[in-house]
Amino acid sequence: MSLVLKISVFYMTFVFLSAKTILNNYNEDRMNLIESELEMQLGSGLRLTEKEIRANEILMHWKHKEVDESFRNPQYFNFSKHYFTFRNEIEKSKVYRIIKRMPKGAVLHIHSSLMLSVERILDLTYEDHLYACYTDGDLKLQFSNDTPQRPCRVNWTLLSELRNASSNITEFDYTLKKHFTLYSQRGCDESNDINTIWAKFAKVTKTIAELIAYRPVREKFFYEALDEFYNDNILYIEIRSGLKNLYELNGTVHDKLFMPKLYRQVAKRFKETHPDFVGVKLIVTKRRVQTDEQVQNTMNMAREIKREMPDFFAGFDLVGQEDVGRPLAEMLPVLTEAKSDLQYYFHGGESNWYGMATDENLFDAVLLGSKRIGHAYALIKHPSLMYIVKQKDIALEVNVISNIVLALVHDVRNHPLATYLALGLPVVLSSDDPGAWGADPLSHDFYVAFVGIASKRADLRLLKQLAINSIRYSALDDNGKATLFRNFQHKWDIFIKHVIAMGIHL
Ligand SMILES: *[C@@H]1O[C@H](CO)[C@@H](O)[C@H](O)[C@H]1NC(C)=O
Ligand SMILES: *[C@@H]1O[C@H](CO)[C@@H](O)[C@H](O)[C@H]1NC(C)=O
Ligand SMILES: *[C@@H]1O[C@H](CO)[C@@H](O)[C@H](O)[C@H]1NC(C)=O
Ligand SMILES: *[C@@H]1O[C@H](CO)[C@@H](O)[C@H](O)[C@H]1NC(C)=O
Ligand SMILES: *[C@@H]1O[C@H](CO)[C@@H](O)[C@H](O)[C@H]1NC(C)=O
Ligand SMILES: [Zn+2]
Repeated sequence: MSLVLKISVFYMTFVFLSAKTILNNYNEDRMNLIESELEMQLGSGLRLTEKEIRANEILMHWKHKEVDESFRNPQYFNFSKHYFTFRNEIEKSKVYRIIKRMPKGAVLHIHSSLMLSVERILDLTYEDHLYACYTDGDLKLQFSNDTPQRPCRVNWTLLSELRNASSNITEFDYTLKKHFTLYSQRGCDESNDINTIWAKFAKVTKTIAELIAYRPVREKFFYEALDEFYNDNILYIEIRSGLKNLYELNGTVHDKLFMPKLYRQVAKRFKETHPDFVGVKLIVTKRRVQTDEQVQNTMNMAREIKREMPDFFAGFDLVGQEDVGRPLAEMLPVLTEAKSDLQYYFHGGESNWYGMATDENLFDAVLLGSKRIGHAYALIKHPSLMYIVKQKDIALEVNVISNIVLALVHDVRNHPLATYLALGLPVVLSSDDPGAWGADPLSHDFYVAFVGIASKRADLRLLKQLAINSIRYSALDDNGKATLFRNFQHKWDIFIKHVIAMGIHL
């Protein structure tokens, strides 16, 4: 070997070695960087038990399969499409089946009159004495012994009579159901602007409100709703509800404080046969388009409920389409006054507009001491508020499917929840109005968030942390939280065993 060759071999080896060292250092830096970010992620602080690790491997096997297939075939990626297009496909997913069985703790953002699935609402239309008034596309409902006195442009007819007279009852009921939900099996209109979809949503809300203004039906409605939530592995619920006058067949109209009492009584009855169900609390709501005086009146009633039923009362909130409602800043005199005695759980930033009054509701929600913030969809545009939310531990109630249906986001990969999870903000997942769009009480929302929004690397720890958060940020007192956590943990252990037993072949 010539000297020149020897030198060049020596030289090349040297270059090769140092390149390797450099590469090793780079890879180490890269890994450290990724890991330090993963450590910030929601759920990263949890340590899994050996059994949980095995269950996690099964869960992640299926999650990776779904995500990787979608990555290779983005044209079939369901989460970049409207929820209605893939809603019926969800059941096929193995990840979903695991999530469905998973105990999820509590639901903290739910509007009581839109909790129940349309299938069970349909059953309630089979109750006696229900009159209907159909006028082109509109449906009014009322329970009554005789023909209702309320004006109807056509005529009031017993619904059972209309149903009996129809040539095809399946078809009749199918058409009827469309008045109670935005979701339809035979194709839905997915291209709505925000005002159009909210108008349709308001119509559904109104029809359901008429059906359940009758006391016996409200009672059944709420019991059935609790049953559906319980079956979705939920052990505690905070409902948001306006105060409505319920009526009886004999003409009695109850005062507005009757309804919370009824809800509390139904929840108690439900607990008797479902002892691990921890219960229900109420966040009293008023529509945000109302005047100061009307808001003030409802607040006074909320105070009364708090006084009479301190165990049932959780707080106060303002609801309705945020962009067209009054901003919180406009109601400051009223809201500031009650700040100390009514706990606030404000909706805030359920909007795509940046720098507008609606968007800035988030500032008022924080300043008015809101315990949690509903949606907080726009929070991502406000770094100082994100910092405060983390510092003050103000939970964000994120409702992913609601945000799709009510036209805030199309491709869920763009949902700000991804960032909230990455930053480890105090997030809870909820479902807002699942009955209004045919979603599970909570499992669909968990599934879409876990596979469609969270990092591919996010695993069982995220799911468990979300369940733990729902307990931690609830309005329960410490004893209540301890009980809920105990009941949750018991179900969780069974769930983990089940996943392991099913293995890859579930
Ligand atoms: C998405 O939906 C299609 C049907 O539209 C289904 O065949 C497919 O399995 C779904 N993909 C995933 C990843 O769930
Ligand atoms: C009342 O209206 C229904 C349609 O809602 C119609 O079928 C029926 O014939 C009407 N009855 C009377 C008495 O007008
Ligand atoms: C409708 O049919 C059911 C079952 O046949 C019957 O019980 C009910 O009385 C009928 N209702 C009316 C208003 O005819
Ligand atoms: C009734 O309508 C349903 C669809 O809503 C259809 O599947 C069924 O075949 C119809 N039944 C009769 C007897 O026409
Ligand atoms: C009306 O009906 C309700 C419920 O059945 C009953 O509690 C109430 O006493 C009745 N009122 C009158 C005046 O008959
Ligand atoms: Zn809401």
